[in-house]
Amino acid sequence: MENKLSNQPGPIGIFDSGYGGLTILSKIKEAMPQYDYMYLGDNARAPYGPRSFEIVYDFTLQAVKKLFEMGCHLIILACNTASAKALRTIQINDLPLLDVNRRVLGVIRPTVELIDQLTKSKHVGLVATPGTIKSESYPLEIHKLFPHISVVGESCPMWVSLVENNEINNEGANFFIKKSLDSLRKKDTNIDTIILGCTHYPLLLPIIKQNLPSHINIVTQGELVAESLKDYLYRHPEMDNKCTKGGITRFYTTESVDKFQESAANFLDEKIFASRITLD
Ligand code: DGL
Repeated sequence: MENKLSNQPGPIGIFDSGYGGLTILSKIKEAMPQYDYMYLGDNARAPYGPRSFEIVYDFTLQAVKKLFEMGCHLIILACNTASAKALRTIQINDLPLLDVNRRVLGVIRPTVELIDQLTKSKHVGLVATPGTIKSESYPLEIHKLFPHISVVGESCPMWVSLVENNEINNEGANFFIKKSLDSLRKKDTNIDTIILGCTHYPLLLPIIKQNLPSHINIVTQGELVAESLKDYLYRHPEMDNKCTKGGITRFYTTESVDKFQESAANFLDEKIFASRITLD
């Protein structure tokens, strides 16, 4: 594959299983509007949350290869499920074979790094997809840095579907959100900070807030990932030089373009023109 990859500078790739990564893209663009971005949503195969490790890894690797072929040198997996289940293997096993100079980064580490500053009680809750919860990536990463913090997680199998199907303003959404949050807080009544460990969940923020007491901090990832990326590019000028700066974002989806353009408008405050691609 290495021969097919161009050495010309290119956009920063942002990948998600569907629309959720747009919440990350919007914060990255706010912090660094000068760069070019290429967003890829695998909407035809979303959600990834209930899928096995093998499948999430295969799908994510296909997306990474495609974004490399389309000119990206740096890719952010703006998806917790892909970051939890595929990132490490891609970094360790695949990148050395694909191109040692390209990079793939995730969203879990930037979220975890600041958690000690956000919690006073040192009791943290996590809401995420079944896949992210099952991977144990959050407790593992948090305990590497902050062994004194206790973490309990709640798998929320319905939440991504509420967002992907544009059902967030319906009564049913409140039912499923309340149910998961109540169940999480029953597991540890000292939780003062809850991580929204899925890039789709910021879209549910108003309903999440309604169902939590005001003393609980809700951690969304967009700003944290944007700051971390900014810092990464500052510390790695060789990568920064490979990222083009024209302020243009291109959107790609594996689903129908019309559906993507319409739904993506719920996430980003701009008119979106997308192209359809296939992954294999
Ligand atoms: N947005 C993705 C995440 O952050 C997952 C959604 C899905 O299940 O595909 O976990």
